Amino acid sequence: MRSPAETLDEPARAADAPRARAGEASPAFNGNSIHEQCNRANGKRSARARRRNSLDHAGVHETRGPGARERFFSLGDRASWQVAERMTRARVFGKRPVGVYLRFGEWTWRHLPRSITTRRLATGYARFVHGLVRLQGDRRQYFGTFFFRNRPQLELICRLAELRRRGSAVRIAVVGCSLGAEVYSISWSIRSARPDLKTTMQAVDISEEALAVAREGVYSLGVSQLADEPMLERATEDEMRAMFDREGEKLRVKSCIKDGIRWSVADARDPQIVDSLGRQDLVVANDFLCHMEPPEAESCLRNLARLVDTGGYLVVSGIDLDVRTKVANALRWKPVNDSIEDIHEGDRSLRLSWPWRYWGLEPFDKSRPDSNVRYASAFQIGEAT
Ligand SMILES: C[S@@+](CC[C@H](N)C(=O)[O-])C[C@H]1O[C@@H](n2cnc3c(N)ncnc32)[C@H](O)[C@@H]1O
Repeated sequence: MRSPAETLDEPARAADAPRARAGEASPAFNGNSIHEQCNRANGKRSARARRRNSLDHAGVHETRGPGARERFFSLGDRASWQVAERMTRARVFGKRPVGVYLRFGEWTWRHLPRSITTRRLATGYARFVHGLVRLQGDRRQYFGTFFFRNRPQLELICRLAELRRRGSAVRIAVVGCSLGAEVYSISWSIRSARPDLKTTMQAVDISEEALAVAREGVYSLGVSQLADEPMLERATEDEMRAMFDREGEKLRVKSCIKDGIRWSVADARDPQIVDSLGRQDLVVANDFLCHMEPPEAESCLRNLARLVDTGGYLVVSGIDLDVRTKVANALRWKPVNDSIEDIHEGDRSLRLSWPWRYWGLEPFDKSRPDSNVRYASAFQIGEAT
């Protein structure tokens, strides 16, 4: 199975080309431009890295159960859902024709002009395809991550942290932190914007292997073996200079950015997690719930909400929108609509994968009556204090 990074390789890297070129012209960090070196190293992506990227070894398994999932799919109507279900179950000579159908559909879609794929009818068809993909998708976890992955979301996190400060302190937990890029991006952004604010950060992942890398905070340019992504691709030269000390070919996160971060191995599904981490002002849980089957993602999301102190915020993206909307409505979370559309579009790896990968993010649809909840990735939980 290809990793999320691979599926968006061509369009995403094409979208990056102008910035990479700009990087060449900008002042170099130790001789060569970092982006230039990233681009060279990106060619070294190996099949071994792709295999290691799957987290089957971390004990995160899919939970299948035909029928039980219907309530998680908003495919328009029941008839569409039934067609999709039947298509995913059909066998011809022991093989599933839906795979061929999807591969051919993807190839065709990628060759159609945007003026056609963004039409209402085409979008309706794409929604059906995405439902089909989610029904038959082989969900599994990945370590894929980036520094400054979603800038508008990062800016919102900084604003929420300021709002939630108690005296001069704010408690933040980043769950599913993978190799640490997200944690360090948040730590650096808050400390740069508000050096007076005392942040205590807890960073959690289910994988020891990922946490060991995160804790050390040493990264290379180009594609990380574990993440199978060019993790520094979205950082600017200035940000890299400010965040890292150069050690030969490696970049080490500065100690002032690491201070106050507590790293721990924990399972977000574990009801005891609130006892070990304590309640937080801000909980960030990005890009791992989409790799769980919807019923498991729902119960995990409900569990994570318990980590948030009354009036605090939960930031959660990279999750099936039907699952997040269902839980947000059921628990009466208050959506934060500040920059909602920019944040939705802010992680191109998710947007470009739609509708052909289960983790793909549908286009922002303002006409939906529930758009303010469906597309929000930040929520205030409980009564504001
Ligand atoms: C795709 S990475 C996302 C990293 C980062 N949050 C981001 O958005 O860039 C998903 C991470 O979630 C972790 N993970 C998966 N299931 C988990 C669970 N039940 N509890 C804690 N971490 C989990 C994986 O080990 C992996 O490192």
